[in-house]
Order: sequence, then C-alpha cells, then structure tokens
Amino acid sequence: TLIYFITPTYPRREQIAELTRLGQTLMHVSRLYWIVADDRPDCSLQIMNLLPDFSIPYTYIASPMPAIYKRDPDAMPRGVSNRRAALNWIRLNHNINDSNAVIYFGDDDNTFHLDLFKEIRTTKKISMFPVGLVGEYGVSSPIIDKGKVVGFFDSWPAKRKFPVDMAGFAINVQLLFKYPYATMPYKAGFEEDRFLSALAIRLDEIEPKAENCTKILVWHTQTAKKPKPIVMVKSKASLPGSLATLL
Ligand code: UGA
Ligand code: MN
Repeated sequence: TLIYFITPTYPRREQIAELTRLGQTLMHVSRLYWIVADDRPDCSLQIMNLLPDFSIPYTYIASPMPAIYKRDPDAMPRGVSNRRAALNWIRLNHNINDSNAVIYFGDDDNTFHLDLFKEIRTTKKISMFPVGLVGEYGVSSPIIDKGKVVGFFDSWPAKRKFPVDMAGFAINVQLLFKYPYATMPYKAGFEEDRFLSALAIRLDEIEPKAENCTKILVWHTQTAKKPKPIVMVKSKASLPGSLATLL
C-alpha cells in the first residue's frame, strides 16, 4: 500500500528549512508519494531544485489561496487550497482498480515519528491517533473504550462531530472515489470536521492506531518566526537566490 503524503506549504523565510527537514524524514519511508502543494501562483525554482534531493517520488503543485479568503487574517483557511489541489491530483492520477493507497495530511512544520507510517499504512477506511502539542491540553486524541473510539479529547471541541487535528487521521484512497465531490471547506477551524463529515465517517468505523491511541507519533510543532534582520545590502538582486529569500 502506497502512502500519499500531502504537504501544504507557503512562501516565507522558513519554507526551505521546513521542507528540507520534512524531506529528510520522508526519505526513510518506503512506498511514499509526496505531494507538495505550495500557496503561490507559480512553482518556485528553488523548491523545484530542492525536491529531487530526497530521492522520493513527488509532485509539486502551485495552489494559491483565493484572494477572497485572505481578507480576514485571523480566519484564513490555511492550507486548504493546497490540500484541495492535492486531493484533485489524486482523483485524477490514482488508478483505484490497480492499487491501494492511504492519504495523510502532513503540514510542513509538524514532526513525524517513523513508526507513524507503519501505523497509517494499514488504514482500511479511516484511522485516528493522538497528536502532541495541540492547543491548551497539549494533546488531541480520540478516547478509546474496548478498542473503539467513543469520544474525543481536544481543547477546542467547538461543537464539532470530529474534534481532531489535521495530523490526527488518515484515510484510505477508496473513500475519495466513493465520495467524488467530498472536499475540504474554506472555513478556518472546521476543515477536518467538515471533510470527515463529507466522507460520511461513522464513529464506530474509526480504526484506532498507535497502540489504541496511547502513543504520540506526531507533533503539531510550530516554528517561531524571527523578526526580520536589519541588513545593509544595496539591493536584494545582488544576492544569490537562496540568500535573498532569507531577508
Ligand atoms: C493548524 C492546523 O493543523 C492546520 O491543518 C490548519 O490548516 C490551520 O491550523 C488553520 O486552519 O489555520 P497551524 O500550525 O496553526 O495549523 O497553521 P500553519 O502550520 O501555519 O498552517 C497549516 C498548513 O498550511 C501548513 O502546512 C502551512 O505551510 C500551510 N499554509 C499556511 C499555507 O499554505 N498558506 C498560508 O497562508 C499559511
Ligand atoms: Mn503548523
């Protein structure tokens, strides 16, 4: 079974560092296909040059967020246009009759234990597992009773049916084809819940992973943004490309 690892990313000073770290994690995983979906109008030459370094099969997509969603920076649906583009790519390119695959959303700033990939690879329909460093509680996880998901532990329930983090579930690719119109909404905070609802997921069919959700194999880490350094350069154009992006 193949793993489609969908990574939304966006231009900022930390981007190349994040993708390098993530790519060097994914290098250790066999049968993985990396879909890097970038929130910009055109593909970046620098990233096109970087991705082959990891020797893993990948597709690089430019998938900018529509301007209309950028009006309110506090309610921006981050990574949604990217994930939608990646899901479309899978629907167009995966041969459902030919092979099986599992889909996972791996943000560019998260941290992944290699055991996570062994766990999600066996996802028959939908699997869930704890995510560390999420919200006030410090962990977001399904609650398990006798091997079944009976509820959720999450610091922001917000009346969601599935109060889970984007990094806390994996789905079998068959679901995408069973529900060809299911997608992720442009609604900050409700991306996971509405996406899983669109796939008609029932609580009793969720497959708990990571030793019945007792182990943390993925962390919602965040990279601190540094203030822009004050530098004395006559013009950015005089710097080599990779240096110019850091300023
Ligand atoms: C949390 C969730 O884990 C995300 O899945 C969710 O999309 C996001 O909140 C949200 O809805 O705001 P968080 O760590 O707070 O994630 O957000 P980021 O890591 O900044 O963004 C999530 C993903 O979207 C990242 O992979 C990031 O590279 C990408 N992103 C972010 C964009 O593509 N465009 C942006 O303008 C910002
Ligand atoms: Mn993040």
